[in-house]
Amino acid sequence: MATVLITGGTGLIGKHLTVKLQEKGYSVLYLSRTTEKSSSIKTFEWDYKENIIDIDTFNDIDYIIHLAGANIGNKRWTNKRKQLILDSRVKTGQLLFNKIKEQNKQLKAFISASAIGYYGTITSEKIFKETDLPANDFLGKVCSQWEKTADKFKELGIRTVKIRTGVVLTEKGGALSKMAIPVKMGIGSAIGTGKQYLPWIHIDDLCGIYVKAVEDATMNGSFNAVAPEHTTNKDFVKSIASVLNKPFWFPNVPAFLIKLVFGEMSSILLKGSRISSDLIISKGYSFTFPNLKKALINKLTIMITTNFITLYIQCSTNAMYLA
Ligand SMILES: NC(=O)c1ccc[n+]([C@@H]2O[C@H](COP(=O)([O-])OP(=O)(O)OC[C@H]3O[C@@H](n4cnc5c(N)ncnc54)[C@H](OP(=O)(O)O)[C@@H]3O)[C@@H](O)[C@H]2O)c1
Repeated sequence: MATVLITGGTGLIGKHLTVKLQEKGYSVLYLSRTTEKSSSIKTFEWDYKENIIDIDTFNDIDYIIHLAGANIGNKRWTNKRKQLILDSRVKTGQLLFNKIKEQNKQLKAFISASAIGYYGTITSEKIFKETDLPANDFLGKVCSQWEKTADKFKELGIRTVKIRTGVVLTEKGGALSKMAIPVKMGIGSAIGTGKQYLPWIHIDDLCGIYVKAVEDATMNGSFNAVAPEHTTNKDFVKSIASVLNKPFWFPNVPAFLIKLVFGEMSSILLKGSRISSDLIISKGYSFTFPNLKKALINKLTIMITTNFITLYIQCSTNAMYLA
């Protein structure tokens, strides 16, 4: 079976994708800033700032999935942070390209993460499609340069796919865990006007799309990876409350407060448009979780069960020490 090298494989998406690929019989390797994060997956090291990459990284690989990048949503967007967000995606991609070219390595495909930030952090009634132009704001420029770097692989005759991802729903980490906290406390509410759209995708579907990008040789270019159902921020939080059987009556969190706390990064919380999933569906992808309620029931149930088991283990361990 083929071998897939994942950059940033230690992250939220990478860990899930690793399991999916292994279940399908693929060998998975990681390219990481450190070999200490994963003991079970063979890991090669790189440092894009020093232009260094382990010489053996590309020996036996068939595909590269490029997920690496500094997290967009966990720190304020200072100028330094913005530069890191850009460089950790574009310079890493450029380093991969240089080395693959240098070693004359023929990959079966280069698949890169991208994001729906490509279309801009704006609220509108437009439904964005893959043929739309990139926005001129910070994330629009990051995604555009990220994808242009991926496109260089086409010069080497390598099939290139870019996955423009929406907010990924997982049971651990990511946006859903953060959004569920106030709801669990009974104080969940929409933010800003609540009318901004929140394009999302269940992690299983995102991994399904990545696997399809590996296996479907007719896939080329950019694909939106968002569920077909369009949801506003208000409907999203209301659905979490309904699945968790919690109240939803608190007034919206005012936009000025979100801006005060998150600075420029608040735009990803306060703005959002609809994104079309027609292209990936036309390629034959069938969503397991096309609607939000079903996706939330699945992920929130796992989240609650995991929290309960963790609490149970902690209590049992404490009881053992006290006995
Ligand atoms: N999660 C989402 O909702 C979402 C939505 C849209 C797009 N995406 C994109 O999909 C990709 C994967 O997302 P994710 O949620 O799995 O991200 P993540 O959990 O933040 O993991 C990203 C990985 O990138 C590597 N990394 C982090 N900072 C880096 C830096 N400064 N330089 C080089 N590498 C760095 C790390 O791997 P090592 O420590 O092993 O090097 C990390 O595990 C990202 O590019 C992200 O922008 C994610």
